[in-house]
Amino acid sequence: MSVRPIEVRILRCRPGRIDPPRFQSFRIDAKEDLTVLDALEHIRLTLDGSLMYRHSCHHSSCGTCACRVNGMERLACTTRLLDLGAGTVSLEPLRGFECVGDLAVQTEPFYRDIDPAWSCLKPAGPIGGAETGTEQGLQRFEECIECGCCVSACPATRSHPDFMGPAALAAIRNEMLKNPLAADDLLSRAGSERGERWCERALACSRVCPTGVYPSRHIADLRDELKGPRST
Ligand code: SF4
Ligand code: SF4
Ligand code: FES
Repeated sequence: MSVRPIEVRILRCRPGRIDPPRFQSFRIDAKEDLTVLDALEHIRLTLDGSLMYRHSCHHSSCGTCACRVNGMERLACTTRLLDLGAGTVSLEPLRGFECVGDLAVQTEPFYRDIDPAWSCLKPAGPIGGAETGTEQGLQRFEECIECGCCVSACPATRSHPDFMGPAALAAIRNEMLKNPLAADDLLSRAGSERGERWCERALACSRVCPTGVYPSRHIADLRDELKGPRST
């Protein structure tokens, strides 16, 4: 198994203490399967116990470890350092969220336009080519793991901080498909002052989404619906 020395640069930030933020470098020996999250844990356990970041599942299910890796939004737990092909790897917190410490951000605003009453389940599709049979009532969780990558990558959320953002619009569209009776109310949310109108069609949200939600596709569908007979 190959091992390569890597310089990991982390944007350190602690409001009131490390302010303005500044990069700090750590050198580590990276084995080929070492992930960014493994590197962060190694640094915190052996080099600097004050390092702050979030994680939970370690397998791309919880969304909490999202950060910017060499300028691009990624999940730290599924990004292997050596796959990045560079001797230096820079880590920064997501944009569009308040930094509470190093790579940890305040995620509360992410949920501002996502109603907790909306279902996070959907009917299960075929598994391994075999029909699971919705008559058996099998369900699975939605693709969105609420990581915030799309919000961080979206240029419109930076130029219009009130914009509800791609994840909320994708969630609205998903809920419309599952709950057609609520479609008018949901569509009016999408068409509100903070909704679809601010999307610049830059598609960055779909490029960085780690779970294939394709928010920009949902936004395009909402835009079509808003132009249709339902809109006033
Ligand atoms: S398509 Fe719209 S929502 Fe997605 S990144 Fe671009 S501006 Fe943001
Ligand atoms: S839509 Fe994709 S990128 Fe955005 S929060 Fe959900 S999983 Fe993350
Ligand atoms: S730790 Fe859960 S998605 Fe990375």
